[in-house]
Amino acid sequence: MKEISVENAFRLIEPGPILLVATQASGRANVMTMGFHMMVQHAPPLIGCVLGPWNHSYRVLRETGQCMLAVPRADMSGLVTAIGNCSGAETDKFEALGLQTVNKGKLPLLSDCLANLDCRLVDETLSDRYHLHILAVERLWAADDWREAPMLHHLGDGRFRRDGRLFDESEGMTRWQDLAGLGRR
Ligand SMILES: Cc1cc2nc3c(=O)[nH]c(=O)nc-3n(C[C@H](O)[C@H](O)[C@H](O)COP(=O)(O)O)c2cc1C
Repeated sequence: MKEISVENAFRLIEPGPILLVATQASGRANVMTMGFHMMVQHAPPLIGCVLGPWNHSYRVLRETGQCMLAVPRADMSGLVTAIGNCSGAETDKFEALGLQTVNKGKLPLLSDCLANLDCRLVDETLSDRYHLHILAVERLWAADDWREAPMLHHLGDGRFRRDGRLFDESEGMTRWQDLAGLGRR
């Protein structure tokens, strides 16, 4: 191994699934792309999300306390990039990019995605310091194939990787059997 710059850390750690964050204010919906996020708690589920003040979505999230996290399908990398390269402050992204929605929760669900997680902002104490927002997942909608369908992972530089082969090590999860079992339910 050779030592490389710490500036590359996010390129190794970021590649959880790339997410879309939908928000809505005064009846107008918007969406942005987000690669920086992490699970914080299993139950009730909490997710830590980095949303910076350079985004229109940041202002709407802080104002309304609500957002929908959508997990894109593996073939949506072009759309994911386009969504993250324009601002809802100037563009109606739903119209401009032809995003398909369905009304089921408080916010529109992105129906072409694998899953949609209806979230409420529960902690913004680290927002000023790290732009970190803790979201509680209140409802979850998923497509029938959500367990098998590949997801997209952003490598931090405009390149994406899709999930590949599955390695099932759940029998070795003896200390965490409840969690291993959860994946099958
Ligand atoms: C692949 C990708 C990943 C991104 N990840 C984040 C992120 O984790 N946090 C963030 O604040 N912005 C992130 N962005 C930038 C926002 O998506 C971008 O600023 C977007 O235009 C904001 O839209 P809005 O102004 O409509 O909210 C990302 C953009 C791309 C293309």
